[in-house]
Amino acid sequence: MPTLVLNNVQKSFGTNPVLQGIDLTVTGGQMICLIGASGSGKSTLLRCMNLLEPIDDGTITLDGVDISEPGYDPQPVRQRIGMVFQSYNLFPHMTALDNALLAPRRVHGTSRTELEPKVAELFARFGLADRMHHYPDQLSGGQQQRVAIVRALAMKPQIMLFDEITSALDPELVGEVLDVLRQLRTEGMTMVLATHEMGFARELADTVCFLDRGRILESGSPEQLFGTPEQERTRAFLSRVL
Ligand SMILES: Nc1ncnc2c1ncn2[C@@H]1O[C@H](COP(=O)(O)OP(=O)(O)OP(=O)(O)O)[C@@H](O)[C@H]1O
Ligand SMILES: [Mg+2]
Repeated sequence: MPTLVLNNVQKSFGTNPVLQGIDLTVTGGQMICLIGASGSGKSTLLRCMNLLEPIDDGTITLDGVDISEPGYDPQPVRQRIGMVFQSYNLFPHMTALDNALLAPRRVHGTSRTELEPKVAELFARFGLADRMHHYPDQLSGGQQQRVAIVRALAMKPQIMLFDEITSALDPELVGEVLDVLRQLRTEGMTMVLATHEMGFARELADTVCFLDRGRILESGSPEQLFGTPEQERTRAFLSRVL
């Protein structure tokens, strides 16, 4: 089981301090939800976790190894820590299956015949068996987002990061994507989600972190954070979104 530990992580864009001393431990099988106002730093935090953004100070360790040192090769880290974004960014000229096969074939140098059955199994597991050979524009937004999740899972990550993956979807398509997360949760995947879906965070998170101006102002179980928030700013945020 993977353990990712962030210790006093700091990040600025120019003179704008975006992460101001983040301490967070992600342990195997847990689901952590990041909530907070627009601009509070949720996406930046996720991007720092899989080394899409360098940090200015603090450390990030994965199973005890400091992966935040300048010069550390991000590639193996990004194989272990997958990420899915709000915009699914599938290649339009490739079928769903080919989209999902692309990265693992490149990285592992594995042949198509060897990989295809394993990736096809992922499609089946997430209710997409009959959509594998479709092109993105033949799929609904919810299906495309599920393909994007399968594509990330095809790399066999140990941790998955999800950044507002339902925000661009029509309301009636949100449910099928959240069902995929429910399933991953049941299978014991370690996950960190930035989400505006408070009901979902409440239902499934082990820990909910409220981000405020680049700090984790408050964190706890969903019962604690939604039920009896301690900080005034948490209460104000929740009263706006609930
Ligand atoms: N590449 C960048 N260059 C400069 N500033 C950035 C960059 N990315 C993010 N920021 C700034 O960092 C701050 C935090 O942004 P971030 O996207 O992490 O917030 P967020 O909590 O994900 O917001 P939202 O809920 O709107 O997605 C914002 O002030 C944003 O303008
Ligand atoms: Mg964001």
